Amino acid sequence: MPPIIYLDNQATTRVDPRVVEAMLPVFDRSYANAGSVTHELGLAASDLVEESAESIATCLNARRSEIVFTSGATESNNLAIRGVCLRKRTSGHIITVETEHKAVLDPIAKLEKQGFRVTRLKVVPNGSDDAGLINLDELKNAIAEDTILVSVMVAHNEIGVIQPIREIADLCHECGVLLHTDATQAVGHLPVDVDELGVDLMSFSAHKFYGPKGIGGLYVRRTDRRVRLASQIDGGGQQENRRSGTLNVPGIVGMAAALNLCHAEIQEGTEDGRRRELRDRMYAGLKSRVGDLPLNGPSLTPPGLRLANNLNCQFPNIDGQSIMSGASEIAISSGSACTSADPEPSHVLAALKLSDDEIQSSLRISVGRFTTLDEIDSAVDLLVRSVESMRQYGADECLDS
Ligand SMILES: Cc1ncc(COP(=O)(O)O)c(C=O)c1O
Repeated sequence: MPPIIYLDNQATTRVDPRVVEAMLPVFDRSYANAGSVTHELGLAASDLVEESAESIATCLNARRSEIVFTSGATESNNLAIRGVCLRKRTSGHIITVETEHKAVLDPIAKLEKQGFRVTRLKVVPNGSDDAGLINLDELKNAIAEDTILVSVMVAHNEIGVIQPIREIADLCHECGVLLHTDATQAVGHLPVDVDELGVDLMSFSAHKFYGPKGIGGLYVRRTDRRVRLASQIDGGGQQENRRSGTLNVPGIVGMAAALNLCHAEIQEGTEDGRRRELRDRMYAGLKSRVGDLPLNGPSLTPPGLRLANNLNCQFPNIDGQSIMSGASEIAISSGSACTSADPEPSHVLAALKLSDDEIQSSLRISVGRFTTLDEIDSAVDLLVRSVESMRQYGADECLDS
């Protein structure tokens, strides 16, 4: 099989070899249960967990006691939303956004069936520079006496839009409402400081920032306000009863190593620009040879509006799935890979008011740490070849009929 050009970094990232290196000795030597504090090996595993937790907390400007380890962002979102809403309550009001990930929308929809009231905010439709952003006045008007929780993600997995989380947090706190944010696409990519963002709960997942799959975390605020959760997984009482289950020590060590590398990269300040350059080169290269490719989501500039790694655009009148089939040497996505088991058109693009045809013609391309300039140029060639053959095929079809 020829090497694949991997441009699906928002679905998941390749584990950085330095992260693998940090994890290997844990499988080999520190394999004991971190809860087995009756022997040296268990204590050593527990020490590794504590060191890693401290390091993760430092990268996020959080306290160690505010970090709960989970299996990934899906679980973190469920724990945050269900944990807050179901603690000593059976009803109340939740506010979220139509374009959130299913790992936020689905637990909220389930709570709605159980008696909670839900407001799903709309976003600015496509075609505007700030497409995908929520309207803060709408949020303010939606907050009511019985509002318990607002859940808005930092940065979007399909369209890359970055929401003004600090302003959202201020609005929530003026009204005594908690703010959860799904920061799965932001942690490791943008500077994320829980105090600067002002969030109360924040989900993240290692496999989105060059760490292993199956490990993530939930930040739960304890300073200024103490957020309490109803546990969602009960058993051995690990993690102060907030999430039972034997800790995934290699995963935790890997997540800490991965986040440290990203943190250093963010502080260095060059990687974001490099990714932006690759992404913009891809878009410009495609447009110059294919023609107009309407952008889905906010404008690519100024930088603060959209993630540097994300491109999502339409290939008018061509089926995105067919373009991908004709360019099988490239790994890209027609929407959110996490919902690819779901044949429905992307709910995110639908919320941007794209037609079904426009949604079908859309592709998401996401660059990452290991993407090279040569790969971008080759990917442009391969995609252009695929589009041209689709156009040719379409023309032949017309001629035949
Ligand atoms: C914004 C967002 N939230 C949640 C998830 C789910 O994360 P995990 O795969 O760690 O469960 C994803 C994965 O694509 C995501 O992009």
